[in-house]
Amino acid sequence: MEVIGVCGSPRKGGNSEQLLELALRIIAGEGIRAEKILLAGKQISPCRACGKCREERDGRCHGHDDDLVPLLPTIYDADGLLLATPVYFGAATAEMTAFVDRVGYVSRANGGLLSRKVGAPIVVARRAGQNFTVAQLNYFFLINGMILPGASYWPIAFGGAKGEALEDEEGVETIESLARNVAWLVKKIQK
Ligand SMILES: Cc1cc2nc3c(=O)[nH]c(=O)nc-3n(C[C@H](O)[C@H](O)[C@H](O)COP(=O)(O)O)c2cc1C
Repeated sequence: MEVIGVCGSPRKGGNSEQLLELALRIIAGEGIRAEKILLAGKQISPCRACGKCREERDGRCHGHDDDLVPLLPTIYDADGLLLATPVYFGAATAEMTAFVDRVGYVSRANGGLLSRKVGAPIVVARRAGQNFTVAQLNYFFLINGMILPGASYWPIAFGGAKGEALEDEEGVETIESLARNVAWLVKKIQK
């Protein structure tokens, strides 16, 4: 069993990454392999709608030769996918958007490589935009046939400067409960 946590912030060591690490630690504590992938510093271009993934149907992205291509098998082999992003102008970052567009399109071109995996978002913002961004990521999970756990609140936290999200007590409790539910669900689905 494995859960992959992807962080879409361009800022390494920031709030999204810290909350993602918190969640992955809890999941690892439940005996599930937990791996973090940072999009920061990686070259991940937007989908260019070449349609080659629909022609080739080999589970690969043929539109680019960038840092996402070698990550795809890891994503599709996992049992769960956590997507952590800060809010940028009311939505997920450009990095996260490029990631979900390509991972989702290749999945759908190949009969649903993400189908029945567990999916969950973690969203942080200084002031506003978390709910919309949670919805944005949940739409991605749902159209890809994934299964979503809830948490003690919507999986959001508040924080601007690095480290502030960990001071949001309710946000931290929410992400902890999300992580426990992700682990629970991954184990149930594996039975
Ligand atoms: C380009 C940009 C756009 C942002 N847009 C928003 C926004 O719409 N709402 C908000 O509350 N915070 C916004 N922020 C603040 C970040 O969401 C906030 O600092 C967050 O904690 C950053 O997460 P990170 O540390 O994981 O990078 C924005 C920051 C940047 C750099």
